[in-house]
Amino acid sequence: MVESGAGPSSKRFKMASGGEGATHVGFIGGGNLARAITEGLLQADDKQKRFKIHASFATNGENYKKMQSLGVAVTTNNKDIVLSCDVIILSVKPHQVLPVLEELRKIYQDIDENQLLVGGAPLPRNLRPLIVSVATSITIKQIEEKTEISWKMGRADMLGHLPVIRCLPTVASSVRAGVTVYTSGHFSTENDNKLFLDIFNSVGFTQDVPEQYIDGFTAFTGSGVAFMGLVMEALADGGVLVGFLEEWPTK
Ligand SMILES: NC(=O)c1ccc[n+]([C@@H]2O[C@H](COP(=O)([O-])OP(=O)(O)OC[C@H]3O[C@@H](n4cnc5c(N)ncnc54)[C@H](OP(=O)(O)O)[C@@H]3O)[C@@H](O)[C@H]2O)c1
Repeated sequence: MVESGAGPSSKRFKMASGGEGATHVGFIGGGNLARAITEGLLQADDKQKRFKIHASFATNGENYKKMQSLGVAVTTNNKDIVLSCDVIILSVKPHQVLPVLEELRKIYQDIDENQLLVGGAPLPRNLRPLIVSVATSITIKQIEEKTEISWKMGRADMLGHLPVIRCLPTVASSVRAGVTVYTSGHFSTENDNKLFLDIFNSVGFTQDVPEQYIDGFTAFTGSGVAFMGLVMEALADGGVLVGFLEEWPTK
């Protein structure tokens, strides 16, 4: 089921090629991180002129409702994202990434070629969506293995890879103060990188890094906040030690 305007559209492919109109950004997985990026994008572009945001969910529960209330085109069918979006941001939990990619591969292979037409002509290979993964610990190699897609065009059997960028954003993207480190995959082009940067520079700062640093960055940004929490707790304990009531130092 698709709501708030998401849905199959060959129009978006024209927009992607001509650079006119909005870039359709689709999250597969619309939880905490997807919402943080969406909030940042909406601050950067509140009329959704540059970005039209879509998201898919496992259920139509809380996350679905929260994204819907932000004006995002929400769905519980990942196929809607595949058919509607120029950029697909994989934002499910890490253990769900490979099964979701397997699902995407099947969706691609089952798409009727008529759904991939631009003005009556077959969709050129270079207009296939950019896959962005925000999942920790899933490597570009793993993703690229799952995004080798074969499809039929006329009588020909085509085989190609979708372009992939792996990145690690932070939830401060919600206030456009995010830091996103990223590595481009073997099949992503300069245009794919530009598209990626257009999105992630809108919600903060980006830095290109070798892939091996991405997991280190996860530990740094995830644990750094926890260490600051420890310091604050120790300060509060110090306050109690010098005789303050327990609730005072935390105020
Ligand atoms: N949170 C962070 O600070 C952070 C920072 C950097 C990177 N990351 C990465 O971002 C990813 C998402 O993390 P999160 O914290 O945002 O997780 P989350 O809040 O649990 O969100 C996961 C989302 O995935 C949806 N989902 C599950 N299975 C699905 C499927 N088969 N198809 C479509 N959607 C599906 C869930 O749907 P329902 O809403 O229906 O349950 C939910 O909306 C993870 O890979 C994590 O490593 C997170």
